[in-house]
Amino acid sequence: MPTDTTTVPRSTAPRRWPDDPAQGGWYSAAELAAVQEAMADSLPWQTGWRGKEHIAAFEDAFADKTRSRHAVAFNGGGPALEMVLNCLDLQPGDEVISCALNFVGTHLPVIHQGGDLVLAEPDPLTLNLDPADVARRLTDHTRAILVTHWNGLAADLRPFLDLAQRHPHPHHGPPVVIVDAARACGGTTPAGLPVGAEGWATIFSFETKKLMTTLGQGGMVTTGDARLADRLRHLRTYGLSRQWGTNQQLTKMQAAVGLIQLERLDEMNTARVNRAHQRSRLLHGIPHLMLPPLLHGGQHLYYRYNLLVPEAWAGAGRDALMEVLADQYGLGSIINDPPTYASHDYIRAHTGSQTCPRAEQLAARLFCPCLHPRIGDADEREICEAIRKATDQVARTFAAP
Ligand SMILES: Cc1ncc(COP(=O)(O)O)c(C=O)c1O
Repeated sequence: MPTDTTTVPRSTAPRRWPDDPAQGGWYSAAELAAVQEAMADSLPWQTGWRGKEHIAAFEDAFADKTRSRHAVAFNGGGPALEMVLNCLDLQPGDEVISCALNFVGTHLPVIHQGGDLVLAEPDPLTLNLDPADVARRLTDHTRAILVTHWNGLAADLRPFLDLAQRHPHPHHGPPVVIVDAARACGGTTPAGLPVGAEGWATIFSFETKKLMTTLGQGGMVTTGDARLADRLRHLRTYGLSRQWGTNQQLTKMQAAVGLIQLERLDEMNTARVNRAHQRSRLLHGIPHLMLPPLLHGGQHLYYRYNLLVPEAWAGAGRDALMEVLADQYGLGSIINDPPTYASHDYIRAHTGSQTCPRAEQLAARLFCPCLHPRIGDADEREICEAIRKATDQVARTFAAP
């Protein structure tokens, strides 16, 4: 079962390939050894589970990998984003612009930290935040542009950094660019820089489905701003006796596993990208499916393999295809994600009458069939054959593109 608000087919038929594929991450003997070592290290009552050195080692390695000056570990990507937004000290009327097509956990902290969430449209090809639409929505109240590298495709941050410079807030200066890289850890942006190196702050998630994971939960912030890094360290540790704070620390064992996962990240990402590229080769030529952009060099890590059906199939046709795949072929898929205001009452209540028709239209055409780097070649061929046959079946009912 999915753990978030993703939509799945109604079918209860048993699945050969699950709806939401990566619940378990991908661990090797090295992570098991790290867990045992951290456990053994913590058994003496005089030592216990204090993880300061382990966390610092993980943070240093992560900063290195992302070519960022500072990395601050948290116990989740959501808490990390919440605390980054907390550091903006948002006042009533302050606006944060973000793509409507998003994970709800990206938008909830904006509202909770007192910001007015301004929803913007996605680019129809990358499904990432559209800079042209952001330009239309920037005002004197904009404090931040929150860009998500959605479903593994690294957005080009340069247009947003540019827009921010050209629209300074009257008191705070240029809005900051905050990046949600929960689904793009280890990626490379179109500027040729590691995900995490650009913008004011980038947040990562190591939750169980993510590209690397620290035993199911965990997160990180990277930033070049020393004051931000310092404040974040206070916030996650009860304010370190100086300011308000809470406890959002990673454990010693998670940090030890994180170090190993980080070492294996490129290998795991490469396997995922190869699997996605093979899928694109096998699905090539199906007239009713728009495949994800074929990007190399880490620009797309295919956290999800997005497929779009034709406009004539939007909604009912797409749902029918997901049902056929699940019922007749045992292939699970999800809609990851619909516009947040359409899938979460709290976000709906706090965004008034805002709508993003392009986001709604794309979401009605979107589905993401199970993809995981550990799916074998034979299974992959069967999955692609199932998609081809199911699409043919649905094409007989719904109008052709
Ligand atoms: C895009 C996006 N942002 C934020 C998060 C929040 O991360 P976490 O689950 O670690 O709190 C997630 C993870 O589910 C996500 O997919």
